[in-house]
Amino acid sequence: MTHPIYMIVAVDEHHGIGKDGHLPWKLKKEYKYFRDTTRKVDDLTKQNMVIMGHHTWDSLEPEFRPLPNRKNVILTRNTDYKLSADEKYQDVSICNSIDKAIALADDKIEKIFILGGGQIFKEFINNPRLTGIYLTKVHKTFDCDTFFPEIPATFKGSEKIGSDEENGISYDFLLFSHP
Ligand SMILES: NC(=O)c1ccc[n+]([C@@H]2O[C@H](COP(=O)([O-])OP(=O)(O)OC[C@H]3O[C@@H](n4cnc5c(N)ncnc54)[C@H](OP(=O)(O)O)[C@@H]3O)[C@@H](O)[C@H]2O)c1
Repeated sequence: MTHPIYMIVAVDEHHGIGKDGHLPWKLKKEYKYFRDTTRKVDDLTKQNMVIMGHHTWDSLEPEFRPLPNRKNVILTRNTDYKLSADEKYQDVSICNSIDKAIALADDKIEKIFILGGGQIFKEFINNPRLTGIYLTKVHKTFDCDTFFPEIPATFKGSEKIGSDEENGISYDFLLFSHP
């Protein structure tokens, strides 16, 4: 089964995405865009899958995870990794490779979103199965220790699909796709 696979990311002026295991900024409207984009389905009987590295999962506030109305998949190579027995984690999957995570997508899944972080983006950015990249360009420089990789030349074209501003910080919503 082939599903469209997108990355979704917010980057600063220097492709910075994280600092000390967290987002370098607090942009509520940008988070809402992330939530709406990753939840939106054309077929209301389906949902989207979100795949994220172990560190990105850890960076989510416990009360906000798993991300609701989406099939959550955590990537880790740690074979002892376990979530608590809490009922809310029942539908969360743990995989030791990106390919295995993608293979979990069945006919109840519409699209797959790779949420990051830096390691996962780096490992998948050149994969020919990547359909597109939803990239929010934040027009400011932050102190970052994690970065988004260079976008391959095959993604040269980007379309501006919106923009917003909050706390004096402006940002553009871009979609990179194959020409
Ligand atoms: N700005 C944004 O849009 C955005 C989006 C997401 C994240 N972030 C930020 O990015 C930072 C986290 O990124 P990160 O690079 O440190 O970590 P990460 O990519 O979230 O997770 C890395 C972990 O994932 C596991 N992993 C990596 N490759 C794997 C593979 N091929 N198969 C299975 N497991 C694999 C490993 O877990 P184990 O060590 O357990 O084996 C590895 O330590 C945070 O600061 C976060 O806030 C920013």
